[in-house]
Amino acid sequence: MGYDSSLKELIGRVEESRPARLEAARRGEHFPAMSMDKRQDILRKFHPDFRADAKRAIIVGPNAGEIYPNEVADVLESLSRLDPDKVDLTRIDYDVDVLILGGGGAGCSAAIMAHEKGAGRILLATKLRLGDANTMMAEGGIQAADKENDSPAIHYLDVIGGGRFANVRELVRALVTDAPGVVAWLEDLGVMFDKTDDGTMRTLHGGGTSRKRMHSCADITGAEIMRTLRDEVENRPDIDVLEFAPAVELILDEERKCAGAVLFDMDREIYMVVRAKTTILATGGLGRLHILGFPTTNHYGATADGLVMAYRAGAELAFLGSTQFHPTGAIYPEQIVGLLITEKVRGAGAHVLNVDGEQFVYGLETRDVEASAIIRECTERGKGVPTPSGRLGAWVDTPMVDMLHGEGTVRRDFAGKYRMYANHGIYIEKEPVLVYPSVHYQNGGVLINADASCATLPNLYCAGEVAGGVHGENRLMGNSLLDVCVFGRRAGAGAAAATPSVTVGELSLNHVREWNQTLEADGIGTDRRSPVLLPDYRGTIS
Ligand code: FUM
Repeated sequence: MGYDSSLKELIGRVEESRPARLEAARRGEHFPAMSMDKRQDILRKFHPDFRADAKRAIIVGPNAGEIYPNEVADVLESLSRLDPDKVDLTRIDYDVDVLILGGGGAGCSAAIMAHEKGAGRILLATKLRLGDANTMMAEGGIQAADKENDSPAIHYLDVIGGGRFANVRELVRALVTDAPGVVAWLEDLGVMFDKTDDGTMRTLHGGGTSRKRMHSCADITGAEIMRTLRDEVENRPDIDVLEFAPAVELILDEERKCAGAVLFDMDREIYMVVRAKTTILATGGLGRLHILGFPTTNHYGATADGLVMAYRAGAELAFLGSTQFHPTGAIYPEQIVGLLITEKVRGAGAHVLNVDGEQFVYGLETRDVEASAIIRECTERGKGVPTPSGRLGAWVDTPMVDMLHGEGTVRRDFAGKYRMYANHGIYIEKEPVLVYPSVHYQNGGVLINADASCATLPNLYCAGEVAGGVHGENRLMGNSLLDVCVFGRRAGAGAAAATPSVTVGELSLNHVREWNQTLEADGIGTDRRSPVLLPDYRGTIS
């Protein structure tokens, strides 16, 4: 397939401007980064979070009155898909010490640590297959301040700056102080990080980082980490795994403490009751809600299920007003729309260009600013690159990577992207790629403490994208793979330590009954059911 003649003609403009840009890059010059004032201004005018039609106040539940994206408010304010009167809570299918909901990086890290710390019966239940999660899709890397010119304190400052200064400080402290140990742990488990010939870890910049601390495995870092964690879980026969068994509601006891979950067996189409002393929510994020109709980089199962269940059970949420749009989601060809073009490409020097082949933004602004600049170029400035199906976007000049770092760099460091595009007849070491922002990350979630315990619901722990607070209003690249491991490990260890002193009372779904009654009394959301479990694309494909 490749590019059609009109796009080939436009690539000519990129090639024309390239020699001068390359020369400047070789001199170490880059497009000027924006001042703080300009960043604020561009965010307010162009970031989807700031669009007047994007949000509404949530009416019911612990966060009533807060302003959330419409899609998030809707999915929270929906009736349960479960009729509590049809679930017999006295027939317990699984009785465990630690129940882990979710089989991505956070869930697997939690399971490994719970096992390591001697938790008794551990059950991990996941919606699809073990490892089918956003962790698997992560590309660019994992941050850890383990080089001589760096420190967790510097990492801390970068995280807070990237998070628009809103982050919960103790959570950031936990994230950055655990980071070097997490990277060493992953390496011990078998993750094959990129290294130089003398065995030193290769590290790169990400947007908003003041030091090169991104550790990667080519551009398939998440797949490599997920492979390792999944193997580790599978190699521990004491950890029971249930696949195709998403949670649909948390169960509480009469003291309103978390006491397990109702799972849906997708094969047999029946509900199963799990009683658990401690429950770890690691269900991931919300990308598949397609905020404002944007495409997404996310995994098929990212439908905000954990948020919904925790909220109904009384847990407080944090920072859900802001969503992360990755600046560089693919927009051509149509088959890959939304999929991630890792920030690492820009970290390796590829410029972001408009239809005239001109730079208009520093490639390593924080993601919110970078995404806003691309949106401005395509809207207000009228300099977007048109695709045959009518989308507008920007170029990422991928051939610069080989030109700056030597032939073969693209195929080695961006093997995943090379292959993805080659399948469509585009060779990214020779031709640039077309991008536009894509829904990438749920910045907020269930409010947690530094030990990953839920701040407002006893005996519940939360880890990874479902949890909120650590990233403030905007996460930096490479802090998500880190987050799933840091808080997954903390949740697993915390739950294992807590279980001996937990006594579970009588199981109850009264909170679900009450939730449904409240919505019905107020006439809110009664035509919607959640958790969504799987996105419904029927009718959206012409
Ligand atoms: O651009 C990326 O590779 C994404 C990484 C991340 O979200 O951490």
